[in-house]
Amino acid sequence: MTSKPFLSFGITLFCVVLAGCEKQVSYSADVKPILDNYCISCHSGSSEGTAASGFSVDDYDSLMRGTKFGRVVVPGSNMSSSLYLVVTEKVDPKIHMPPHHDESLAEGRGYALSRTNIETIGTWIDQGAKDN
Ligand code: HEC
Repeated sequence: MTSKPFLSFGITLFCVVLAGCEKQVSYSADVKPILDNYCISCHSGSSEGTAASGFSVDDYDSLMRGTKFGRVVVPGSNMSSSLYLVVTEKVDPKIHMPPHHDESLAEGRGYALSRTNIETIGTWIDQGAKDN
């Protein structure tokens, strides 16, 4: 039985072809709940984050509209998307979201996203940031 290694190689190749067998991330089931938990308290209506930046996370359209200076999601490229960059540690702590400064922390509002939640947002953007 020498065919086994070839079989597993075949399966591996098949998976790579299928975009690494990566799970499709859903906006409504995966991304929206994160934004609702960690962002909407400041990024909706006239709350401070929206007042300061024009960015609200109420729905897919407002998310894609971005801030008053432009979009924060570049479909297909999380590294070009400030939505992703501000939740990673890759930006200046001053613009890290949710804000980590002492004041917010003291008020219990400065929770960092978990690695899993950060990657969910990143993967969703890389998969095209669809309204799925
Ligand atoms: C405690 C309130 C608060 C929370 C919670 C919060 N933000 Fe913000 N956000 C702000 C404020 C205030 C600004 C305006 C920028 C500044 O001056 O810091 C801002 C600005 C932004 C910007 C625009 C940055 C730019 O390019 O100018 C993005 C994008 C953003 N927030 C994303 C998020 C995301 C995503 C979350 C949830 C993970 C989040 N924010 C949670 C208050 C908040």
